[in-house]
Amino acid sequence: MSDAQPRRTLRYHSATIRNALLTKLPDAILGGRLKARHVAQPIRIEDITLASAHWPRAFDGLRIAHLSDIHFGHLLGDERLMQAVDAVRTVNADLIAITGDLVDLSAREAPQLFERLGLLRAPLGVFVVLGNHDHLDHPRTIVRGARDAGLIPLMDISLRAGGHDGLLVAGIDWCKSIDHCEARLRRCGAGRADLFLAHNPKAFVAAHARGIPLTLAGHTHGGQLARRGNRQHNLVFTQRLSAGKYERDESCLYVTNGVGAWFPLRVNCPPEIAVIHMHTR
Ligand SMILES: [Fe+2]
Repeated sequence: MSDAQPRRTLRYHSATIRNALLTKLPDAILGGRLKARHVAQPIRIEDITLASAHWPRAFDGLRIAHLSDIHFGHLLGDERLMQAVDAVRTVNADLIAITGDLVDLSAREAPQLFERLGLLRAPLGVFVVLGNHDHLDHPRTIVRGARDAGLIPLMDISLRAGGHDGLLVAGIDWCKSIDHCEARLRRCGAGRADLFLAHNPKAFVAAHARGIPLTLAGHTHGGQLARRGNRQHNLVFTQRLSAGKYERDESCLYVTNGVGAWFPLRVNCPPEIAVIHMHTR
């Protein structure tokens, strides 16, 4: 795959057709009201407190801003992106995690996207993993854009954030199945990570098996239609881990609603930026 001339796949073209039929067409029929209502929903800052005996004591109380599923493109443009970036900046987190689907379809808007995301800074770094939508067009453009903007893309690798004795952060590229997530996590090596970033919440199965204390994921958009007062009752039927926090033994998972979506409807499922307060038990 060349960096200079993206070769667009069948998957990209089918996603473009789906986007035209299920998003652009209904929005045009409704005179743009679908998109207007979608982006008018305020982005909520969701404070989440989690604890694990496996979390390193040196990082007790760490604050992580978790941003996901931006879907930069037709439904989420520059103005909305800046709202999200400004919201993350106001949190002043120790570390920022971006868990995939940075773009909705095309990687051509990556320069504009990363001009904004490049404004994000945190003492321990801004880490990025890719989602399925980032693979529709040209994932290398996304990875390169992230790196050039001062972000840290994690493509099946782990590294220490904050120096030699720092927090061990692992991140995997998009994967669909539990087995595929497990294989990618295995590639990260470096023993048991402290923080694990994956787009797909199914990766938590492998994280739990290894006793990783904290996993952050997105992908589901919280189901987009959820029961009032119970976000884990939602329209995602293919994921047991669909929204919010999950705790298994000493392993915690947070699945964020994310800020964007490919379909412009959210009911009892507001766009959010999560702020994880992580403690040592
Ligand atoms: Fe997504």
